[in-house]
Amino acid sequence: MKYTVVMMVVLSTYLTADGQSYYTSKGNTNKCNECCRGIPGVQGMPGLHGQPGTRGMDGHKGETGSKGDKGSEGMIGAPGATGPVGPKGERGRKGSKGPQGPQGKPGLKGDPGTRGYAGSKGEKGEKGDQGAQPPKIAFSASRSTKLGPVLQDTAVTFDRVHLNLGESFDPYTSHFICKHNGTYLFTTHILGQNKIDAYAWMMVNKNHKLPLHGDGRAGYGTGSNTIILELTVDEHVWVQLSKDSALMNDYSSFSGHILFDE
Ligand SMILES: *[C@@H]1O[C@H](CO)[C@@H](O)[C@H](O)[C@H]1NC(C)=O
Repeated sequence: MKYTVVMMVVLSTYLTADGQSYYTSKGNTNKCNECCRGIPGVQGMPGLHGQPGTRGMDGHKGETGSKGDKGSEGMIGAPGATGPVGPKGERGRKGSKGPQGPQGKPGLKGDPGTRGYAGSKGEKGEKGDQGAQPPKIAFSASRSTKLGPVLQDTAVTFDRVHLNLGESFDPYTSHFICKHNGTYLFTTHILGQNKIDAYAWMMVNKNHKLPLHGDGRAGYGTGSNTIILELTVDEHVWVQLSKDSALMNDYSSFSGHILFDE
């Protein structure tokens, strides 16, 4: 600093108004070149500041800087694709009652009601026509002679025919032979011989239908039975005396008649 001040004083001494500096004496330049060399002048002032130099080469890569501050939040992106169906939610609250539906179909027919009270008595009707009557079919027959004891089952014949309406009783075989479908009643009575059992059957065709028994221990045993049968045309009803049985004369009988048509 002290040096700079000294230099400024020296400069101000040697500068002129036109900016020319005088290192040499006026008019003496040619002579002085060889023989009269003066003392060296004061050192000149430094030149003006030079032009900037050319750009230097790139330096070495610096170290990685510290992490910067977090940037501002980005804009909301476009919606993604629809995800899979989620699990079933809880049951919602009950909705309000809907409007009344249309009328239903008629129901099934109901059961019959209970029986009503009896009505009042009607007036007397007119006399009706005669109804359909069953045909007049009736017979009654008895045996006038003894029979047995028989050595095998034997059909009993009744030689006294008291009645044979409709001719359904065959006097030769003593079978009732049905000529008209219907319901019939038959009754048979037997009287055994003294101290001999009397077993008999009321037969329908070849079938034993109803037994009779007169017990010989009673002396003259008696047996009776009655049967009601539905018969069709050509069926036979008759009396069969069982093996070893016997009948007295006069007391045994076989009778029958129709009850209803069909
Ligand atoms: C009698 O009854 C039998 C059996 O039901 C029947 O086949 C027949 O046609 C009847 N006969 C008459 C004359 O009605």
